[in-house]
Amino acid sequence: MKRKPDHYTERARKEGFPARSVYKFDELQHRFRLVNRGDTVLDIGASPGSWTLRLLELVGKEGTVVALDRKELPELTRAGNTAVCMQADITEPAEYGDLERYAPFDAIVSDAAPNTSGHRTLDTARSAVIVESSLELTGQLLKPGGNAAFKLFQGGDEQAILATARDMFEKARIVKPKACRDESFEVFLVCTGRTAT
Ligand SMILES: C[S@@+](CC[C@H](N)C(=O)[O-])C[C@H]1O[C@@H](n2cnc3c(N)ncnc32)[C@H](O)[C@@H]1O
Repeated sequence: MKRKPDHYTERARKEGFPARSVYKFDELQHRFRLVNRGDTVLDIGASPGSWTLRLLELVGKEGTVVALDRKELPELTRAGNTAVCMQADITEPAEYGDLERYAPFDAIVSDAAPNTSGHRTLDTARSAVIVESSLELTGQLLKPGGNAAFKLFQGGDEQAILATARDMFEKARIVKPKACRDESFEVFLVCTGRTAT
C-alpha cells in the first residue's frame, strides 16, 4: 500500500533530498554531533542518497564521503564535493573492494535496512546481521575517538548488539528519532568515542 506523503516527505522534496530519512540523520547529528567539517565518513545503505547529500554539506570540500549500497548509486554532489560511490553488500566482505583505501574513517553511519517481508522475526534477524557486519567493519576502519550510528530493527538481539558496541565505544545507546514513522520498529544504535584497541 502506498503511504500518504507526510510533513517530512513534503519537506524533503522541497529541500532537494530524495528521501525523508535525511531528517532522522539530522536529529542524530543535532543530538550527538557525529560528523564534523573535514571528516572522512562512510555512509552504509546510502541509496537513494539523502544522508550522503547531508554528509557532503557537513564535511565540506575538505572532507570525503564514501557512499556504499548494494544497489547502484547515482552521482551524488553537494556543496562542491562529490561522494565516492561503491556498490557492495555490507554483509559480504569480499565485495568491499578498495574501501580500505579511504580509511581510517572519522565516522561510520548506516541507514541500511533489509527489504521487509512482513515477518517481524525474520526482518529483525536480517537487520541484526547488517548491524553486526557494520560493527565488524567499524572495528577495523574507524579512528579512535570516532563516532558511529546504525539503523536496527527492534525486537531481536539488540541487547547483545548494544553490549558489543559498549565494548568498542565510550558510549552506546539506542535512540528513536522523531522522524521515524510511529508504526515503524526501527531505532538507531548511536555510538560515540571509539576506544583505542
Ligand atoms: C532506507 S534506505 C536508505 C536511505 C538513505 N539513507 C537515504 O537517506 O537516502 C536503506 C538502504 O539500505 C540498502 N541495503 C540493505 N541491505 C544492504 C546491505 N546488506 N548492504 C548494503 N546496502 C544495503 C538498501 O539497498 C537501501 O538502499
